[in-house]
Amino acid sequence: MTNKLNEFLITRKQTIEDYLFTYVQKLHIPENLKSSMLYSLEAGGKRLRPILVLALLHAYGKNEKDGIPVGCAVEMIHTYSLIHDDLPCMDDDDLRRGKPTNHKVYGEATAVLAGDALLTESFRLITSHLSDHVPAEKKLKIIDELVQSAGARGMVGGQFDDMEAEQKQVSLAELESIHARKTGKLLTFSVTAGAILAGAPDDEIEKLKEFSYHIGIAFQIRDDILDLEGSEEKIGKRVGSDTANEKSTYPSLLTLSGAKEKLDEHMTCAKEIVSKLKLEQHLLHDLCDLIASRDH
Ligand code: IPE
Ligand code: IPE
Ligand code: MG
Ligand code: MG
Ligand code: MG
Repeated sequence: MTNKLNEFLITRKQTIEDYLFTYVQKLHIPENLKSSMLYSLEAGGKRLRPILVLALLHAYGKNEKDGIPVGCAVEMIHTYSLIHDDLPCMDDDDLRRGKPTNHKVYGEATAVLAGDALLTESFRLITSHLSDHVPAEKKLKIIDELVQSAGARGMVGGQFDDMEAEQKQVSLAELESIHARKTGKLLTFSVTAGAILAGAPDDEIEKLKEFSYHIGIAFQIRDDILDLEGSEEKIGKRVGSDTANEKSTYPSLLTLSGAKEKLDEHMTCAKEIVSKLKLEQHLLHDLCDLIASRDH
């Protein structure tokens, strides 16, 4: 990893976490519900989605400050998706971000409600915590993008089809569509929201959506690969969860080496798209390399 990327990741992670934890700690809500929400938020995580929001503002030479509440909103939605994804009725996992999963500590009902609370509260960060100089029109646009990315047309729909694809042979096109929605959509939201805040023109936002479509799929292919050959200590999750659930994954469909080839293809496409845009390229290229080769 380049020194520049490393510094960007460390400093922005800190900024995001400070804002996120303070925001939730200050909420006047039932104590045990708050404790369950904070348990999963504070357990760790790469904070890639908020980092992408800030990276886009950085790439356009704009003030990253406006990206913080939006980045925290998408991180809350992502964390809710993980809490629900781990439930016994879904992937039935007992380890997440290196700790026992939320339902193992708080029970299933509280885990479900903590997820619901994170999802709903996330919108308040956009409606009420963005600076006044961000026009209402932009806030609405960002909320509309978030609804489409997180809901049945996005992550939730992808999670549903992922569940339906268990113990089945699906086509590569079907699998690509599942990955693009269950994981890709929130990553696409992050890039898009950063670009909207930066004031990027519509045609560039469309190109950035294509860019993030490819990084989203590449990110989930890497996740599938790490489920097979990753280290439990590094990924903070059990390895072999997909195999135990008979999931449809890139390695199960294409073999491990076929999955790695597909990952490279998607990353090449992503980089080609970004190379043609008029923005600071380095950070986005470095982020692509990180996503392709990450070990956690
Ligand atoms: C895990 O996401 C679930 C997927 C969408 C693949 P991350 O790998 O970003 O998990 P954290 O946030 O770093 O824990
Ligand atoms: C889940 O994919 C993506 C989500 C929307 C949470 P996985 O089920 O592969 O994610 P992990 O491996 O449990 O993090
Ligand atoms: Mg899952
Ligand atoms: Mg899972
Ligand atoms: Mg996985």
